Amino acid sequence: MPKDTSPFTPGSPVPVDLFVGRGTQIEELRRYVELAVAGRQENIFLTGDRGIGKSSFAAFVSELVSKKLNALGVHVFLGGVDSLDDMVEHVFDQILKETHRQSWFEKIEGMFGQHVQQVGLFGVSVKFTPPPSALPSLVRNFPEAIGNIVAKISDERAGLFLILDDINGLAESAEFANWYKSFVDQVATQFGPYPVAVMLIGLPEKRDSLAAAQPSLMRIFRVAHIDRLSDEEVSEFIEQAFNGAGIVVEPQALHFMVMFASGLPILMHEIGDAVFWEDEDGIIDDKDTWAGLFAAAQNVGNKYLDPTVYRALRSPRYLSILGKIAGPYGIKRSEVMAKLDIDERGVFDNLLRKLRELNVIEPDPDGPRGAYRFVNQIYPLYISMASSTQPPPA
Ligand SMILES: Nc1ncnc2c1ncn2[C@@H]1O[C@H](COP(=O)(O)OP(=O)(O)OP(=O)(O)O)[C@@H](O)[C@H]1O
Ligand SMILES: [Mg+2]
Repeated sequence: MPKDTSPFTPGSPVPVDLFVGRGTQIEELRRYVELAVAGRQENIFLTGDRGIGKSSFAAFVSELVSKKLNALGVHVFLGGVDSLDDMVEHVFDQILKETHRQSWFEKIEGMFGQHVQQVGLFGVSVKFTPPPSALPSLVRNFPEAIGNIVAKISDERAGLFLILDDINGLAESAEFANWYKSFVDQVATQFGPYPVAVMLIGLPEKRDSLAAAQPSLMRIFRVAHIDRLSDEEVSEFIEQAFNGAGIVVEPQALHFMVMFASGLPILMHEIGDAVFWEDEDGIIDDKDTWAGLFAAAQNVGNKYLDPTVYRALRSPRYLSILGKIAGPYGIKRSEVMAKLDIDERGVFDNLLRKLRELNVIEPDPDGPRGAYRFVNQIYPLYISMASSTQPPPA
């Protein structure tokens, strides 16, 4: 069977029709946006580990509240942005992109002044290009500017759902924390109805940085958190994705894919994608699955293990240790020590520390002291492959 495109999208937000799970959080968010639309600003902080599905969740909710609540969803990616000037430019650029094709765009067109540029062949896209000197005042007047837009389109849209994704760079600065606090204070004291919900998205530790920079911010935010999917949800996703592409999955094959995905959305896509390309007959069996799992493990090792640790893990000495410890069940320090020679013992704690820093292993809450488990099932597979394909140390 010829293949064209895989239904799996490792690394980019999932298409809405393949989105699974998150029922409780979706309901929670829908309620917050509903409260906002009724006229009071809402502020949400969405956290979760890298690759757990924050952007996908935001995109899904944005689409939902556009349909159900007639809100205008604007999803701004701020990865790499670390100044307020840059941030506001991104925000208004995205508002422009979301609205310029609407029949009612003329209502707000004037607010962008002369600074709208057609980009791409045939002007397929637009870009907001304000002079840099205009940005500081846009930072200062952000509450009014947003309020004006929302007011002008109030016949067409019930409110705004503004998603500031990947605020990791900004969250380090006290400037951003203070600016956000005064944004919220200003809205509360100087504006009437303000049907705007803002959702910041960042890693859990970024929320702590913001809290440290501006403690009263924490009273402002409602916190939403997303975590691993359940095995049932992973199973549902993998099966749907394959079936949608006209491919049947044997139950045992599905079982292994689910087990190795370990509830992690990023892994279910990496695994699904690798297995998809192994299959040749439209039926996923054990053979396709194992070939795909090995390919996925290799990919995941290359892509997600930090290059420095990835190199370190391939050093002959570490590899020989890893060859002795890599089983799917985790690492017990005392048991491993007993298997190592004296040189290896000398570096073992270093290796453990590296694996922990890299978030490859974590303390096993159910085990004794010195017991660690792998954070997912693909890493030990990768490690056992890496350690068995290398020549033994000289
Ligand atoms: N609910 C879901 N259903 C199906 N696939 C999902 C779901 N959530 C996330 N994914 C997939 O998992 C991967 C990671 O998702 P996403 O990029 O949304 O995570 P993230 O938390 O925003 O990551 P980062 O921390 O890198 O920004 C992507 O391949 C995405 O398609
Ligand atoms: Mg993201």
